[in-house]
Amino acid sequence: MATVRPLIAGNWKMNGLSHQIAEAEAVAKGLAETPSSARVAICPPATLIDRISRELADSGVEVGGQDCHAEACGAFTGDVCAEMLADAGATLVILGHSERRAGYGETDAVVASKVEAALRAGLEPIVCVGETLEQRKAGQAVQVVQAQVRGSLPQSLKRRAFSVAYEPVWAIGTGLTPTLEDIEEVHVAVRAVLVEAFGEQGATVPILYGGSVKPSNAGEILHVKDVGGALVGGASLKASDFLGIIRAL
Ligand code: PGA
Repeated sequence: MATVRPLIAGNWKMNGLSHQIAEAEAVAKGLAETPSSARVAICPPATLIDRISRELADSGVEVGGQDCHAEACGAFTGDVCAEMLADAGATLVILGHSERRAGYGETDAVVASKVEAALRAGLEPIVCVGETLEQRKAGQAVQVVQAQVRGSLPQSLKRRAFSVAYEPVWAIGTGLTPTLEDIEEVHVAVRAVLVEAFGEQGATVPILYGGSVKPSNAGEILHVKDVGGALVGGASLKASDFLGIIRAL
């Protein structure tokens, strides 16, 4: 079976002004000095994609968007389409993040249509799933996440590069993380759905863990069975922390 490099992606969310481009440059510099076996990506706000992707050109560090509209163009004031992200230099895009699902009512069907848009523009989707605290307490975590994976990943992903990010909603930005056993349980369950939907390809799709990943817990999380990388929010804003996570692999 072909091995797929783990992916460690930084999600800057709505953080990042011009002076923070220096953090992205510092990540690239750190990786030039000590290369990683992982693929590394930074997903800054849309306003910085063009400048950061120019700065990081040839560094090996990839640049991604954090969301895109499903349509390619039109009367959608304030929105950004996948083609615009690609045109600005992005090669990846985060889709279905829980902050989008909760704050903008994005359903699995909406996320699936955005995945189609990303593929149309040649972007590699990172599709996020994850249960709420209520769902975990009710013993529904695996069931909820498996349903999100089934509903958010269209068959057009067959033979295309993509990854899934398991991010328990209650672990995002809270400093809380599931036990390693709980992470493994969900990742193994996601893997089963990926194999069911995509056959052999599903066996190698990276399944990232996200939610309060930091340098001090990255090593143990990244070595859990079926964890193929990390989606990092807060700790990706500082190059030293993000490099600490990358080096924990
Ligand atoms: P966090 O965010 O690392 O700050 O918890 C992760 C994410 O939302 O992708």
